[in-house]
Amino acid sequence: MKVDGRDIRTIWFDEHEKTVKIIDQRKLPHELVIVDLKTVDDAVKAIKDMYVRGAPLIGVTGAYAVYLAALNAPDGQIETQYLQREAHRIKSARPTAVNLTWGVDMVLSKILSISDPAKKIDTAQKISGEIAELEVENCRKIGEQGLSIIERISRQKKGNTVQVLTHCNAGWLACIEHGTATAPIYAAFDKGIDIHVWVDETRPLNQGTRLTAWELGKHGVNHTIVTDNAGGHLMQHAMVDMVIVGTDRTTAAGDVANKIGTYLKALAAWDNNIPFYVALPSSTFDWDLRDGLKDIPIEQRDPDEIKYVQGLDRDGSTSVLICPQTSQAANFAFDVTPAKFVTGFITERGICRATEEDIRRLFPEKDRRQRPED
Ligand code: MRU
Repeated sequence: MKVDGRDIRTIWFDEHEKTVKIIDQRKLPHELVIVDLKTVDDAVKAIKDMYVRGAPLIGVTGAYAVYLAALNAPDGQIETQYLQREAHRIKSARPTAVNLTWGVDMVLSKILSISDPAKKIDTAQKISGEIAELEVENCRKIGEQGLSIIERISRQKKGNTVQVLTHCNAGWLACIEHGTATAPIYAAFDKGIDIHVWVDETRPLNQGTRLTAWELGKHGVNHTIVTDNAGGHLMQHAMVDMVIVGTDRTTAAGDVANKIGTYLKALAAWDNNIPFYVALPSSTFDWDLRDGLKDIPIEQRDPDEIKYVQGLDRDGSTSVLICPQTSQAANFAFDVTPAKFVTGFITERGICRATEEDIRRLFPEKDRRQRPED
């Protein structure tokens, strides 16, 4: 995507410096800082501490982390046991987004059988790049698919502004380019459709306020930041035509894990008869799970992320305590929206209803695991 005239992605391999580079998203929107990932420790820290975040981006970072593991193997032999240990460490960095496991396993499965260490390293780097390109292309297609929904609403509204509400950041910053939830928005905007986005602030880390607002603004998309609690009110007053969110893990039966608060938006949309869409690449489906509430691991993060807010004052970046120092805080990072509240999935293959049958019709090649009741 373009930032102030410069083409940039969230992660890339610099051929000249032979280094993996990322945007340090903790610094946005105030500073665009690029950081090098040179070791597995760097990559694990970047994922854990959310220099990089968002399911597709975590997946690609995980893939490059396996490359870094191969590159830095202590004995130069890149033993299988060592790679598997490092892969486990990378996958454990954040538990909810299934893309992380997907990205790591994609690279691992291609290099374990290679015996020549140099070829192992080269292949790991090549496959990571291919995964990044695949996700870029999938997000572009999600944009094309989702555009048809926005076009339909725009026609129904006789060209009046299409009002979209989104939660967290499921934009290009959460991916490599285009985004998932934002891809149809960018496609509609680029086509000249009048569109406005309500951006949930997304406490505690403010991915909406900091990241979605920043990237929409850089692209010129009209948007307004609202508090996390405003969505219900907006929907009751016909100020939202559709909700589009991303997801960190969606079960084969259509239950959706996404940033904490997504479920409440889905409930409000349901009550107000407003379409609630989830945009995702196939890498975010967990084909092995069916019951999202029971089976999707929900990350709990440091309570200090709730107790302190980060911002910018005249002296630079600062952190401010906003509650009694001694109060406890519980930081659940994600929640699960049951499939029954989802109007449809926007995927690279098309749009489908949130049922196992419809999802599997779009992705027939994915294995159906033996179900307990089968
Ligand atoms: O904690 P984060 O910022 O990694 O959470 C990100 C989200 O919840 C996104 O909505 C999700 O990963 C979809 S990204 C296209």
